[in-house]
Amino acid sequence: MIKIILNNKPVELDVDPQMPLLYALRDELQLTGTKFGCGAGQCGACTVHVNGKAMRSCVTPISAIAEQAITTIEGLADKQGNLGESAVQVAWREFKVPQCGYCQSGQMMSAAALLKAIPQPNDEQIIEHMQGNICRCGTYKRIKAAIKSAAGNTTDLAANNASPNTSPANTLPSNSLPTNNNGVEIFDARKFTHDSKGA
Ligand code: FES
Ligand code: FES
Repeated sequence: MIKIILNNKPVELDVDPQMPLLYALRDELQLTGTKFGCGAGQCGACTVHVNGKAMRSCVTPISAIAEQAITTIEGLADKQGNLGESAVQVAWREFKVPQCGYCQSGQMMSAAALLKAIPQPNDEQIIEHMQGNICRCGTYKRIKAAIKSAAGNTTDLAANNASPNTSPANTLPSNSLPTNNNGVEIFDARKFTHDSKGA
C-alpha cells in the first residue's frame, strides 16, 4: 500500500509500485484532468506538482513519491486558497488560452509552479520554464500573456484577442529530455504494461 497526500487529502493506493503516477491518477483515482501525451516525459501534458514543484507524472513511478504531497489540476485552486480557481486558471479563462485544450492542464500546472518560484517572471524566464510544455495548437502567445496577467503584469493584454500563432518567432523552444526537479527516478512510461485510458 502506497500513501500519498493528493490535493491536500491522504490517499492509499494498492498498485504496482512501478505504475506511473499518471496512470494512478487517471485510472485508479479517476482524476482525468492530467493528460497522457507522449508517455516519455517530453510533452508536459501530464504535469503535476510534487511538493510544489512541476513534475512529469508519466515518468514518475508511484513508489518514488510515497508520502509526498501531490497536486493535480483538480486541486490547484484549493492549493492557492482562492474560491474555485487559481490566479492562473482565472487568467487562462480571461485570455481564452486553450484551443483543443489537451495540453492546457499541464500548461497551467507548469505556469503555477513558475509563479510560485518566480512571482514576476520576465519573457525569458517564462520561455525557459515553459519550454517543456508542448502545445500542438500553438497557443504559446496567449500562454505567455496569461502568465503575465496572473503575475499582475498586463503588458501583454493585447494578446487577449490574438489568434494562435505558430510561426517560429512565436513558438517556444522545442522540448528537451525530461528533468526531475526532485531527483526522483525517471523512466519511460511506454514500457510499463498497462491499458491507460484516453482523454
Ligand atoms: S505525457 Fe508527455 S511528458 Fe508526460
Ligand atoms: S490547446 Fe491544443 S495542444 Fe495545446
